[in-house]
Formats: sequence, C-alpha cells, structure tokens
Amino acid sequence: MKADILLIEPMTPDAEAQLDAAYTVHRLSTATDQRAFIADVGAKIRGIVTGGRMGASNAIVHALPKLEIIAINGIGTDAVDLDVARRRGVHVTTTPDVLTDDVADLAIALLLATARGVCIGDRFVRAGGWLRGHVPLATKVSGKRLGIIGLGLVGRAIARRAEGFDLSIAYADPQRKDDVVYRYQPDLRALASEVDFLMIAAAGGQTSRNIVNRDVLDALGRNGILINVARGSIVDEEALVAALTEGRLGGAGLDVFAHEPEVPEALWRLDNVVLQPHQASATVETRRAMADLVLANLAAHFAGQELPSAVV
Ligand code: 8YV
Repeated sequence: MKADILLIEPMTPDAEAQLDAAYTVHRLSTATDQRAFIADVGAKIRGIVTGGRMGASNAIVHALPKLEIIAINGIGTDAVDLDVARRRGVHVTTTPDVLTDDVADLAIALLLATARGVCIGDRFVRAGGWLRGHVPLATKVSGKRLGIIGLGLVGRAIARRAEGFDLSIAYADPQRKDDVVYRYQPDLRALASEVDFLMIAAAGGQTSRNIVNRDVLDALGRNGILINVARGSIVDEEALVAALTEGRLGGAGLDVFAHEPEVPEALWRLDNVVLQPHQASATVETRRAMADLVLANLAAHFAGQELPSAVV
C-alpha cells in the first residue's frame, strides 16, 4: 500500500513523477476549494511535501491526524511551525547543502546586475536605445565593502565568492564565528553604515522579522545597495520601497518579497532595482538534487530508517 502524501508546493515534473511512483500524491494546488479538499483526504495523509516558501500552515497540519513527516523542498523552516511539529511528533526535513552554491551565485549575480546596471543595459539595447544614445555610468563592485547578514552556509558561500572580487567583508550573525577572518559587526545599523553593499542571507522567522528597517536602510544610504536572497520578511518592505522611491537608498537586488508572489508595483518602475521571482535555488541541477533529498527523506522515514536531513 502506497502512503498518502499531500503535495502543497509543486515540484519539477521529474520529481513529481518519482513521488507518484512511490506514493499516492494529493495535489493541493489542483483543488478549487482547498478546505474541502483537505477535509476529503486529510484523514489518510501521512506525509506533506512542500517548499520553503509555502511551508505548511498550522491549519493544514492540525487537519491531518495521521501526519508523520513534513519534507520541505528547501532550507527555510520559517513557514512550518516546528514547535507544533515537535509536539505532534511529526518529523521535519529540509534540503541543506545542495542549494548553497546556487543561492550564493544568485546573490552575486544580483549584486553585479544591480550595481553595473545589467538589466538597464539589456532593456536599452532591446528598445533600440543604443542607436540614439548611451546609458548612465554604473557603480564599481570590485574592491568595495560588503556586509553579510547571516553567516550560515549561504552567507559563507557568498563571502568566498566576494573574496574573488576583492571585497572587504564584514558580517552580522547572532554568533561570532571563530573560524573566519571576516570582521564581526553584530549591530545592523553600524554594519550598514560601514559597507557599500549589504546582503541578506539569514533565516526567516519571528526573530529576524523586519530587522532591516528604515534605520538600517538609511545607514546603508543613497549610494548603498541591498541584496536579499533569504526571506522578504527580514526587510521592512514598506520602508524599503519608500527608501528606494525617495532616493535614500542607492539600489536593491531582490529575489524574495514580503507577500510572494506579490511584488510592490512601485518597484516595477525603478531602474535601480533588479527583481527575481524567488529563483535562487531554481536551476535544473539543484532542483534535481533537492528533490533527491526530499525523496530520500521520505523513503527513509517510511522504511523506518534514520532521516538524512531532519531538523525535527
Ligand atoms: C526554494 C527556499 O525556492 O530553500 C528555501 O527555503 O526558499 C528556496 O530554495 C523553495 O524551497 C521553494 O519554495
């Protein structure tokens, strides 16, 4: 008998085919009335597969009495209530390590694209602008000062790449790291005032909500650039939009937003902003590796074996 799985956030067709081969998969995204759908299948669901972005609400978790495991196709656990999972004895797994390189790559890509006006130049050429004029000069990246908020696996991978651009690196993190040479500056306002570029690579959730606020953005200043590949919730988005539209912040490269997939329309119009639809781990190679890990966690669980990457 195949175990029943609730798929909350769609995966690649390949990954879903593998899920279908091993489990009876109930796809929440196909339901017109999600509440009725859960009421219908909820009693038999033993596992949830979801993404870091959508997670699993407590309302859903509470409606699944036989739930044993939540396998997140991502590293963020902020959209799953880990305390509730612990209390219920439900395992939670993520996909660490395999997406680190891609997320760090996109952080650097966003920095270069924003500072060097890559998208401005692209739009300019496509619109035939080059035949009539030129684009404004951009901002140099190499040799400048970078601040990283969150020196976990992704933050460290960003720092390693930044070394190649001769950036001087400082970081904020709840814990000072003894094994790095980067300067520790736990005060976000101070960090922002001491760097040219500020990158967010911290975990989402209540403790980091809106920690990049108006004060921090003003400290980064009208020549500063903010890059966020972590979670939209970490930035006070209203303050960010205001800082950018009022010219108090130099630019932003954003892969994540407070209310995805909604992106404030004020940002669509700004040339000093580069926008991505939460793509940092979205490469063929990495999504395959993430899916493999999701499937490995599920297989181990249903075989009664140790889980490869459990957080709960
Ligand atoms: C994915 C993420 O895009 O790892 C995470 O937490 O947010 C991203 O890698 C996500 O898991 C898919 O929703």
